[in-house]
Amino acid sequence: MSATVIQGKAFAARLRDRIGDHAHAFEAKTGRKAGLAVVLVGQDPASQVYVRSKAKATVEAGMGSFEFELPADTSEATLLARVAELNANPDVDGILVQLPLPNGLDELKVISAIDPDKDVDGFHVINAGRLCVGQKGFVPCTPLGCLMLLKDLLGDLSGKEAVVIGRSNIVGRPMAQLLVDADTTVTIAHSKTRNLPDVVRRGDIVIAAVGQPEMVRGSWIKPGATVLDVGINRVEAEDGKTRLVGDVAFDEAREVAGAITPVPGGVGPMTIAVLLRNTIVSAYRREGLELAKDAL
Ligand code: GUN
Repeated sequence: MSATVIQGKAFAARLRDRIGDHAHAFEAKTGRKAGLAVVLVGQDPASQVYVRSKAKATVEAGMGSFEFELPADTSEATLLARVAELNANPDVDGILVQLPLPNGLDELKVISAIDPDKDVDGFHVINAGRLCVGQKGFVPCTPLGCLMLLKDLLGDLSGKEAVVIGRSNIVGRPMAQLLVDADTTVTIAHSKTRNLPDVVRRGDIVIAAVGQPEMVRGSWIKPGATVLDVGINRVEAEDGKTRLVGDVAFDEAREVAGAITPVPGGVGPMTIAVLLRNTIVSAYRREGLELAKDAL
């Protein structure tokens, strides 16, 4: 039987609507808009597309968007000075420096310069540490979006076997932490994992975040499992054009899984929605205002 296709795009649109309501309420209470600053260094076309769609979504949600496009040869000192200015700007609640940075700029140093309480990407080591020990902070957008989709679909995750494929700081590691916190039993698989198909077959929940087009095959999936595909890979199509595929061989996996996210339109739209969510949460926190616990 064919799997339920998880409509991440529709879920993200509903989340963005709720964020918009809170953004308008925030403005009514404080007399200012919640603000997100996005800094892009260089002219990587994919990054330009991401940054523009983030800015558009920010404005659509009723928040203020501060955009900075700096040349590829920007010095580290100039970039750090820009970050310091945004840290000090009271109208900025969230700061995102688009990655990857051009060669010669130290990503760790730049991310570490962001005020952790404005780090809506959740990449600062302080926020990684807060997540690890269960303190309030910011959680990276893609894994938090995945958790929201899982809870919406499955409800209580307690006791389930989860397999996270990939151990990046941005997706794999925080995803595993969130799944442990949701009382699942988590395996983190990676490039050195032995018998990967057998390991993946343990999963009631499988999160694929490896960046390898269609690497996870249908035969690796436990019947009825929930599969979230974080991969966005551009590959050549038969007609000579290109198309986007995930890390999971979708047509195979959908015949075995209980539910699966498509690429595009699955996990991807959740990332921007959660970025807006983290920004409005930051705005409320910074103003000392209450946002109902399960509002977003
Ligand atoms: N590059 C690709 N995705 C992201 C993201 O979520 N945040 C940042 N800062 N850079 C990215």
